[in-house]
Amino acid sequence: MKNKIKAYNNILELIGNTPLVKLNRVTKGFTGNFYAKVEAFNPGHSAKDRIAIHIIEEAERKGILTEGSTIIETTSGNTGFSIAMASIIKGYDCILAVSSKSSKDKIDILRSMGAKVYVCPAHVSADDPRSYYEVAKRLHKETKGSIYINQYFNQLNIEAHYKSTGPEIWDQTGGQITHLVACSGTGGTISGTARFLKEQNPNIKVIGVDAFGSALKKYHETGKLDEKEIYPYRIEGLGKNLIPGATDFNIIDEYIKVTDSESAHTAREVSRTEGMFVGYTSGAAMQALKQLNERKEFDVNSNVVVIFPDHGSRYMSKIYSDQWMEDQGFMETNAVTETQEIQYVK
Ligand SMILES: Cc1ncc(COP(=O)(O)O)c(C=O)c1O
Repeated sequence: MKNKIKAYNNILELIGNTPLVKLNRVTKGFTGNFYAKVEAFNPGHSAKDRIAIHIIEEAERKGILTEGSTIIETTSGNTGFSIAMASIIKGYDCILAVSSKSSKDKIDILRSMGAKVYVCPAHVSADDPRSYYEVAKRLHKETKGSIYINQYFNQLNIEAHYKSTGPEIWDQTGGQITHLVACSGTGGTISGTARFLKEQNPNIKVIGVDAFGSALKKYHETGKLDEKEIYPYRIEGLGKNLIPGATDFNIIDEYIKVTDSESAHTAREVSRTEGMFVGYTSGAAMQALKQLNERKEFDVNSNVVVIFPDHGSRYMSKIYSDQWMEDQGFMETNAVTETQEIQYVK
């Protein structure tokens, strides 16, 4: 008898079931136990694969999407990649409206995956006709037989994480998780994951990570969108200049804000200390963990799960470029880097 061939039917079957990895060095001196949910292990290298496949397959089940249909979305890059990947396998056209703040790497990758990409100005209000929200809405109206994923307001975004990320973390921690720390952009990851986890144990503390320049933390505290909170910042995918309907603010216990600079340095630190090449928002989430540890949020029995949303390769021309770091004022100009030192010694 021949041995069975052990192969996946296509790349989409690899979505989800990402590993939980203990953090050992970047948490040195911290009180508690810390674990990263490494979402870069998804085939599209981010947590967004989960929502893309869930929303697309729900639309297929309802008969809204049929072969040859067009999928439209606003995306800082990761959701776009996931939709483009799924569109290739399932035979859809993919149109993406992205913010000009997105890294060139991300935009090039989307085009490489066959998506049609519209780059829209980042620093305009959400209701400006040039914003990526308005451009996507217009394209949806103009393109016959298209669907608009609308991740910021789609409840299926929350449901995707409720059905996958939440149960995975509960299972991987053997139900011993005490804290969840996760970035909040659309809010789908934190809301869906937390909703599942709190149903299992309402005492689990849920902490959202927000950016300076974003309105989320203040909205959580006051119920009001304060325009004064909003100003340009560098981290992509974290925080928002509007209040996303895909965020369940009631399930989040508190928000913590992190700076562009500290988040960038902390992402680099995670890469160099843990050997995990993580993206900018993973640095933001880890930075939040540092701030929480400093204020003595955790004790020896704490089992803290932090979600690392994507992979560092998408930020080569940003946080992993010394030049970019210098240009932002995040690093001293002419700082001698380790690489330069090695070249000098040679
Ligand atoms: C890199 C990155 N990290 C974190 C997030 C936040 O995840 P969510 O939208 O589920 O809140 C996003 C969302 O766009 C992202 O692209």
